[in-house]
Amino acid sequence: MRDHDPLTRCDLTHYCHLQLKRHFAVGAGNGAKPGKTAQSFMVTILTIETSCDETAAAVVNDSLEVLGSVVASQENLHKKFGGVVPEIASRAHLENFLPVIDETLERSHVSLAEIDAIAVVNTPGLAGSLLVGLTGAKALALALDKPLIAINHLQAHIYACQIAFKTDVFPCVGLIISGGHSSLYRCDGPIDFTLLGGTIDDAAGEAFDKVAAMLGLPYPGGPSIQKAANNADYPGNPNAYAFPRSLLDDPDRIAFSFSGLKTAVRYHLVGPGKSIDPASVAAQLSKQEIADIAASFQEAAVDCLVAKTVQAMKCAFDTQSAHNTLCVGGGVAANARFRTKMEAAAKTQGFRLFIAPPHLCTDNAVMGAIAIERFKAGLFETLDLDIKPGLVR
Ligand code: KG4
Ligand code: ZN
Repeated sequence: MRDHDPLTRCDLTHYCHLQLKRHFAVGAGNGAKPGKTAQSFMVTILTIETSCDETAAAVVNDSLEVLGSVVASQENLHKKFGGVVPEIASRAHLENFLPVIDETLERSHVSLAEIDAIAVVNTPGLAGSLLVGLTGAKALALALDKPLIAINHLQAHIYACQIAFKTDVFPCVGLIISGGHSSLYRCDGPIDFTLLGGTIDDAAGEAFDKVAAMLGLPYPGGPSIQKAANNADYPGNPNAYAFPRSLLDDPDRIAFSFSGLKTAVRYHLVGPGKSIDPASVAAQLSKQEIADIAASFQEAAVDCLVAKTVQAMKCAFDTQSAHNTLCVGGGVAANARFRTKMEAAAKTQGFRLFIAPPHLCTDNAVMGAIAIERFKAGLFETLDLDIKPGLVR
């Protein structure tokens, strides 16, 4: 595809058709393999994830085996802007889409003809990014004559626990902590979610990203803050600064708030009403101060996440209920301090805890194995399937 072409659905569909000819005779299949029931046969699904700034694909089967997985990160493209630039993200997805699919199939030792369904994230996320994945997935489904399955990105983050621990984690309470979401769900089944509550302002990951930017630390902010807090030469003191922990004095309210915490760090750095120049702020701070601020911020954010989740577990369910299980997914769940403190809280409170392993916390297509559940339930989409961008609040 030529550089700087306008990003249109037609372009990508046409391009996919051309590329597909390399793989097989178009139109040979007719969806699910004949003569097999959903229970008895091995289903193999190609899952596609392009909701934000990772172009990812995976091939998974109904034994939840991952045959192959590829994640093409756009980190380097967005780094200099200190956050994801939606237009850059969608253009990069367009460039990465087919190479990522090719590489995934190669690693999986599976041909497109052997795939039973194409699954793709269509909600929530950035509009342009979702559109590239969905359009590519539709083109594949149409050309291959395979069923199309919709993936909810938030449900997939929780399903990462089912895949990683290979045990039935449902029913459970699901905590999703990512760049756009900090949400608690009652999960009666893998695709049966009811929102209990979420952030009333910033998401946890957003706060990590913005505080990192204020401190002149690179994007993505979560890993940078964690690294700065754990600096081997200048270990950060998590109690150096008493940053606020919002909403914890209201145990009946299932909600998070990180905006006040973010603002408290900003006021600590430059005071109220002043604009912030990260480069000059960072230049004025010693390595020890940066480590202490990073550690104190991280501690406050983690305390909010853990304490509020414990409150929600108590508030929503008695300890004998089937929902006495917590599953956690999303990029922030990769945070080592969060994992330690959440594990300690689960032990004290007596609930079962599954936190997705770090490589399945940040965006990936393996968690798209949730599509197997939709396949088994016969939940297929027509080519009218559209994106549902934005955040779920
Ligand atoms: O789930 P994810 O990969 O993408 C979204 O769905 O948003 O989450 C990305 C977020 C970013 O805000 C990133 O800074 C944060 O997860 N993150 C972390 C860590 N690794 C990624 N936050 C804290 N500690 C980490 N180790
Ligand atoms: Zn995510």
